[in-house]
Formats: sequence, structure tokens, C-alpha cells
Amino acid sequence: MKEQLRQLQEKALSALQQAADLKALQDVRVQILGKKGALTELMKGMRGLSPEERPVVGSLVNTLKDQFEACFAERQSELQQQAIAAKLAGEKIDVTLPGRGAVTGSKHPVTLVTEAVVDIFSRLGFAVEEGPEIEQDFYNFEALNIPKDHPARDMQDTFYISEDLVMRTHTSPVQIRTMLKQPPPIRVIAPGTVYRRDSDLTHSPMFHQIEGFLVDERVTFGDLKGILTHFLKEFFGEGLAVRFRPSFFPFTEPSAEVDIACVICDGQGCRVCSGTGWLEILGCGMIDPAVFDSVNYDSDVYSGFAFGMGLERIAMLKYGVNDLRLFFENDLRFLRQF
Ligand code: PHE
Repeated sequence: MKEQLRQLQEKALSALQQAADLKALQDVRVQILGKKGALTELMKGMRGLSPEERPVVGSLVNTLKDQFEACFAERQSELQQQAIAAKLAGEKIDVTLPGRGAVTGSKHPVTLVTEAVVDIFSRLGFAVEEGPEIEQDFYNFEALNIPKDHPARDMQDTFYISEDLVMRTHTSPVQIRTMLKQPPPIRVIAPGTVYRRDSDLTHSPMFHQIEGFLVDERVTFGDLKGILTHFLKEFFGEGLAVRFRPSFFPFTEPSAEVDIACVICDGQGCRVCSGTGWLEILGCGMIDPAVFDSVNYDSDVYSGFAFGMGLERIAMLKYGVNDLRLFFENDLRFLRQF
């Protein structure tokens, strides 16, 4: 029995040493001292001992228990230290690492261009006006001298909501809304979203325009030319060549389209300007007296000019973007460049 005790002691102490974590350590304790533990089993044999042997073995058992407890406590604190150290190592924060930095958004190129145009015209005394994107036939067409059988009304071009309501096809209805609201003199710039049934490489069913118009006494085509030339040079650069070509719009008379020297080839002729050296940039003209009639302005007293241009188009030219669709896909790799 003494020999068995000695063997158990050896086995128990080495098991304590080998326990890899606190859970394993507890298991060893149960295996030795538990109700069904090895020592408990061994002590059942004490019944068969003589009265002389019993105290001797009893004291040996106590020594074993004491040693076991001491060894257990030592190993336990060792493992606890290890656990804390491991936890600390795992949660270590390297405060010298660079931070992650907040990602800031940026303005969409069409917004940037809108703001730049508005800024230039604000300095010329123009005020910003807006109108609804769902527009009545009267403002989008009728009051702008676009008769019922005009091709611009064709189902091909216009998104109709009802007989009388359309998605506005241009920002020109803001002219009518503003003039009905206030008497001359008027100087207004009106940016906004417009819609047309058109979709290919260079056309999107939704795009942006900016409208400008000025009404006062004795306004001439010279004023129109002067202001637009000033604007284009401010926007694209001082040396820019500009030309006015006769054109037609139902709501202006006379009408013109304005070209600028191709910003890609500097007027030499390239694919972007189809070899002409010129890029069409806006439509304009003197406001037709028929338009003044529909807003009750006296066309014998007042005259004015109006112009409209596509904002995606001038953004493409300003930033050298060659695909209109890039503006609407909202790919961050594209947007981050502005
Ligand atoms: N509204 C015209 C268009 O969308 C542009 C324009 C505006 C022309 C004002 C003349 C005067 O094409």
C-alpha cells in the first residue's frame, strides 16, 4: 500500500505539471481527489490494514494531499499568469500604427460645373431660379411658342405623364414661370434636370441643363454676344475662340448656336470635333415676341435674350471626359478624380 501511495504521488505531481491549462488542472484534481478519484479508491484499501499500520498510512495520505494541494496551487497561479499574458499579447494595440483616416466625399463633376457656371453669372448680377421637373404642357411647350405640331413634341422626344403633364425636356419653362411671377428687369440663371427619350453613347434620358435669360429695355443681340463670350472665356480660358452660327428655336428670334474651338485639338480638327475644329456648346437667341405675349410683357418696350446649355457636355469638355455614361454610373474610381 505504501508503494501504491508513492506511485500515485509521482503520477499525480507529474500530471499537475503537465496540465496545459486551468481546465486540465481541475480535471487532474478530480481524477485524484474526487469521489471516484484514484486516492479515494486507494483509501478504500485502508480497511484491510492492521491498527498499527493505519496511522502510518493515514499520515502518508495526508502528506500526499498536502503536497498535491501545494503543487496544485503553484501550477494554478503559473497557468493564471500565462493566461493573462496570452490575453494581453492578443489584445496588444500598437499605438504607433498610422490611423485609418476618414474618407471624405467629393462633389460630382456635374455639380462642380453647375456651381462654376452659377458663380460666373452671379458676378454678372444673375439670380438663381428653379422649376419643377414634372412640368405642364403650357410651360414646357405652349408658352414657349412651340405649337402643337412641332417635332419637339413628338412622342420620340418627350416623356408624357398625361395629356397635360410631361417630364420637362429643357430648362426653358423656368423662363415662363419667372416672367409670370415678376416684371422686368430680369436676370436669371436656372440649372436643373431635364428628360428626353434618347439613349446612346452621347445621349442620356436624364441630363442637366442650365438656362439663362435677361429681359430689360433696349437689350440687344450685342449684349447676348458680349455676355456669352465673357462667360465662355471665364469658364474655358481667356484665349478661347468662340463663334456664333445662325440657328432656329421656336422661342427665340433670331436664334444662334455657339461653338468654341475644340478643346481637345485646339481647333486643328480631331475625332471629338469630327474634324471641324469646332464644338457646339449652347443654343441662344433674342426672346421671341410671341413668348413675351404669353407672359404679358410688352414686346414694344422690352427685349431680352436667353440661352441654354447641357451641363454634362461642358463638363466633358472641361475635364476631357469622353463617355457621357461615366457621369451616371457613379463609379468611385471615376468620381474620386474630381
Ligand atoms: N431649350 C433649348 C434646348 O434645350 C436651348 C435654348 C435655350 C435655346 C434658350 C435658346 C434659348 O435645346
